[in-house]
Amino acid sequence: MERKTKEFAFTPADFERVRAMIHRCAGISLAEGKHEMVYSRLARRLRSTGHASFHAYLDMLDADNGSGEWQSFTNALTTNLTAFFREPHHFPILATHAQGRPEFSVWCSASSTGEEPYSIAMTLCNAYGSLNPPVKIVATDIDTEVLQAAAAGVYPAERVRSMPAEQLRRFFLRGKGAQDGLVRVRPELRKLVSFQPLNLLGRDWPLKPPFDAIFCRNVMIYFDKPTQKTILSRFVPLMKPDALLFAGHSENFLYVSDALRLRGKTVYELQSAKAGT
Ligand SMILES: C[S@@+](CC[C@H](N)C(=O)[O-])C[C@H]1O[C@@H](n2cnc3c(N)ncnc32)[C@H](O)[C@@H]1O
Repeated sequence: MERKTKEFAFTPADFERVRAMIHRCAGISLAEGKHEMVYSRLARRLRSTGHASFHAYLDMLDADNGSGEWQSFTNALTTNLTAFFREPHHFPILATHAQGRPEFSVWCSASSTGEEPYSIAMTLCNAYGSLNPPVKIVATDIDTEVLQAAAAGVYPAERVRSMPAEQLRRFFLRGKGAQDGLVRVRPELRKLVSFQPLNLLGRDWPLKPPFDAIFCRNVMIYFDKPTQKTILSRFVPLMKPDALLFAGHSENFLYVSDALRLRGKTVYELQSAKAGT
């Protein structure tokens, strides 16, 4: 069988170097078998920066002082899979939690292209019965490209296909003409969410706590246990005493934090919270 020669030389040592670099800057632990994924995602960066080999590209990154290529390198290696109302059991819990509160503040800590924070916003609009509820949602991600898409709030109509028609009308505008096949989040909903870059590994988190809820879903899976532990310990002081922490379906925070207890399926509260609140 004919073997296609690769456009760029990519040695096992280059792969190990990428693994160490993305772990150091984003906490992401890339599995051994991700050679092909790394090659195809970074080959685009090599083309656009005009480097002839991975070795040269990685040398440039190591010597880089503020060209912005570290951000592009990180953006290329994140996995941004998400969906509106993903893990739907969380949203009724969020709605119940908001009941009777004069204001409500949420941090969505790995918001990707925005489907998650907008699902939170829709849930809270419904819970407060208003398109202008007393709600603040800060949505952050390390990846600046997904944040741009999120702030624009434009999606293929396909992505909202399973949403009830009433909900769709309430929260989205349908594109016409050149925008046919697209939907746009209504400005009222967009106003509830502010997007900003934040690296969960970063020293400073420019946030305004305390929060009634933190969403940290399907991002801890990319981190090793010590990193998860550090991040969770930094969440705790940002949470109101009865705040909820929402995790992804395959993430278990009990193994990495003594400060949390399970409130329901992948929903946590502080150990210090009064039972039944
Ligand atoms: C698989 S998506 C999950 C999106 C959404 N939370 C959900 O559950 O649908 C993981 C997101 O985590 C982000 N991410 C990865 N490492 C990060 C870090 N160190 N700090 C902040 N966000 C990070 C990625 O850019 C990506 O958008």
